[in-house]
Amino acid sequence: MTVHKTQVAIIGSGPAGLMLGHLLRQAGIDAIIIERQNEAHVLSRIRAGVLETVTTDILERLDLAGRMHAEGLPHGGVKLADGERLIRIDIEGLTGRTVMVYGQTEVTRDLIDAAPGRGLEIIWEVEDVGLHDIEGDAPSVTYTRDGVEHRIEARFVAGCDGFHGVSRPTIPAAVARPHEKVYPFGWLGILADVPPCNEELIYANHANGFALASQRSLTRSRYYIQVPLTEKLEDWPDDRLWDELALRLGPDAAAHITRGPALEKSIAPLRSFVFEPMRHGSLFLVGDAAHIVPPTGAKGLNLAASDVAYLSQALIAFFAENDHDAVAGYSDKALARVWKAERFSWSLTMLMHRFPDDGPFERRMQVAELDYIASSEAAQMEIAENYVGLPL
Ligand code: APR
Ligand code: PHB
Repeated sequence: MTVHKTQVAIIGSGPAGLMLGHLLRQAGIDAIIIERQNEAHVLSRIRAGVLETVTTDILERLDLAGRMHAEGLPHGGVKLADGERLIRIDIEGLTGRTVMVYGQTEVTRDLIDAAPGRGLEIIWEVEDVGLHDIEGDAPSVTYTRDGVEHRIEARFVAGCDGFHGVSRPTIPAAVARPHEKVYPFGWLGILADVPPCNEELIYANHANGFALASQRSLTRSRYYIQVPLTEKLEDWPDDRLWDELALRLGPDAAAHITRGPALEKSIAPLRSFVFEPMRHGSLFLVGDAAHIVPPTGAKGLNLAASDVAYLSQALIAFFAENDHDAVAGYSDKALARVWKAERFSWSLTMLMHRFPDDGPFERRMQVAELDYIASSEAAQMEIAENYVGLPL
């Protein structure tokens, strides 16, 4: 058994683990990341990239925002479509802030590339990860790699291992409080090297269902349509998907859609999920390990960032000032912001999607709410301040 010693053992090299590891190392705190996949796999993931200031602030603090500013696209507005018109939400005019369109893959790449030069060790392709003594002050994490058994002895363990990780299940059922809602549809997404159909994102509620026009750059677009969970990728050849996108996004957008071959096409389910508590003993849950949002609100990466902002501040206070209150308060503080983001993501999902059990009345409620949003600055402010990100 090879034994490593560190102050914080981080499980998972996604955005949560990487942002946390960098902030801890920047503060002179020892941290090691262990990751079950290899680097190429982690960097191959196609994920949303609408960054709130909570996320861009972390990259700025780490002096890792250069490529984001060079290649990212600041957006001062977002559009809703109701099948007939585009309703622009003037995020910047209403809140004074913008969101940054910059792919999560790029954020992850920037964080991984900077790790070696900053003393942040990432151990790739680990197996059989186990957590031990998390209820005490001397937890450990074991794993195997190339057939060799390892143990990391730490003061804290950060479970940044996503929805399917091993950290959350180690919290005893007696204290676990999971909350879940699974939606009766999925999102079929397509990535294509074609210019976006609009300078901003468009979220559409059409009689046929939801659609989203997003972007990775001025030459690469990301589109989605809502599909029943029974649908298969082979049911949606590119032409059929482009036709349906044009229909659902409405005539204004459709007139500017450039079609092209799919670089990637996939169907993902939607769920809302929150696990409480986000701390148990010396184990903290961070990001998708603790919560999942439907992608409608573009909150996944940004909630990981707010968890990281809270936890890094608490751990720095613990190690630098022997302050135990901040780590004790992490779960309640993080969950307060998580639940508000879950509400917004759920609310926008309910507004913009067609539900199998909905009848004409429910449809008219959605149409009426979109009409109200089109005519009310107060309603637009609610969307704007949640979309750009509530304060920490
Ligand atoms: N051992 C080591 N690593 C693990 C284990 C394990 N047992 N289980 C999972 N992992 C790794 C995964 O391979 C992944 O790289 O943990 C990482 C978790 O990363 P994410 O799933 O990206 O979660 P998170 O870092 O919280 O980022 C949340 O990413 O998934 C998107 O939509 C989500 O935008 C959100 C963001
Ligand atoms: C994306 O670009 O993949 C994306 C953008 C906004 C969302 C969801 C996904 O709400």
